Amino acid sequence: MGAIFAAAGSAVGLGNVWRFPMEVGNNGGAVFILIYLLCILLIGIPVMVCEFVIGRHTQTNMIEAFRRLAPGRWWRIIGVLGIFVAFIILSYYIVVSGWTLYYTYSSFRGMLMDKGCDYGAFFNGYVSNPWLSVLSAMLFMVMVHIVVARGVRGGIEKCSKIMMPMLLLIIALLVLCAFSMPGIDKGLTFMLKPDFSKVTVSTVLSAMGQAFYSLSLAMGCLCTYASYFGPKTRLVSSALSVSSIDTFVAVLSGFIIFPAVFSVPGVDADAGPGLVFQTLPYVFNMAFEGVPLLGYLFSGLFYILLFLAALTSSISLHEAVTAYVHENWCMSRHRAALLVSVGTMSLGVFCCLSFGVLGDVTLFGMTVFDLFDSFSSKVMLPVGGILIAIFVGWYLNRDLVYMEVTNNGTLSGRFFGLLFFLIRWVAPLAICTLFVKGIVEMF
Ligand code: TRP
Repeated sequence: MGAIFAAAGSAVGLGNVWRFPMEVGNNGGAVFILIYLLCILLIGIPVMVCEFVIGRHTQTNMIEAFRRLAPGRWWRIIGVLGIFVAFIILSYYIVVSGWTLYYTYSSFRGMLMDKGCDYGAFFNGYVSNPWLSVLSAMLFMVMVHIVVARGVRGGIEKCSKIMMPMLLLIIALLVLCAFSMPGIDKGLTFMLKPDFSKVTVSTVLSAMGQAFYSLSLAMGCLCTYASYFGPKTRLVSSALSVSSIDTFVAVLSGFIIFPAVFSVPGVDADAGPGLVFQTLPYVFNMAFEGVPLLGYLFSGLFYILLFLAALTSSISLHEAVTAYVHENWCMSRHRAALLVSVGTMSLGVFCCLSFGVLGDVTLFGMTVFDLFDSFSSKVMLPVGGILIAIFVGWYLNRDLVYMEVTNNGTLSGRFFGLLFFLIRWVAPLAICTLFVKGIVEMF
């Protein structure tokens, strides 16, 4: 149970509550959700099993795992790639995590309780203020740093065990509230009625990127966690549980955000990174109209939990890089963590400022923040996914995979053929096709 919760802690984060609704909004709603679910089922779960197999079999970190399984080969590049992507993702992840910190503060100060307030303007005013946004990100980074430098894994695991169910409970309650909003009809149509004319390859690539992102795949986070799994842990059912929890949280947040989007004047579904932060305060005000105290408590609690969810995910990202620097560059854990924190924070400053003073600095038509986000999720994560699936499907011995998946033959291997087929053929081919087409379309 502990291992599953830790993996779920890494998976459930801003990717579910912040990024998923943003991508759904940018990519036309229901169609995106449908493709996303298919990606989870056909590609995400098999790749997750691959990571679990590698991690539990070798009982060590990502780079070392590849070195042991394929000595002297270039496969270890997968590990190096993963570390690099973790670094890039973390540098903008802390920016959004900083926002959760500021919103927690604001809700306890009562700043989010004004029904007449324009929360779109509130958000824009905040993120374009260089001092405030950099300060929030920095504060968040310090917290991540303290945890990682101490290496408190037990703490995180225990923490996720309590937090995850609480976050889920609050989200579920908010969904119920969302059903009383004026925009509920439009919101439901947007989320449930697919318009296939809107599908482009880029939609599909985004959905796949989001699936990898949300499940924390393709860069060794889960591989590392799986190295702590015991011999009795069932890999396939753990992968199914983690993906179900993760998908459930993501879809539920959609059910909160979209009814609100269509109820708030001036906010569009494709509002981008600010979407969740502009609509949620409105949800809290509307949902608890008669009892402002409840609204006050709920919004505070919600942002704290969101902050904690962001924290566990950031820690898994930070840990992936720190573990590598610590072990391979012969540095003490403290120094390695410090190096990673300072490095990510330096990049993070540019991501923060891209909502304000650096807003006009663009590359391929994207700001630094958007570029980091798109590049990592649409380019790097699919590449990592292909390599991992090919490694397990083609390089590793099929019997080794069978033994891991069935816990040395003690579990039924009835679906192994199907799973291995997905790993060997479907995942690499699907990712590869989408990736190449998506990239061609982008440029
Ligand atoms: N999955 C996390 C989220 O949904 C983010 C995350 C943690 C991640 N570790 C990762 C994303 C590894 C990609 C790869 O917020």
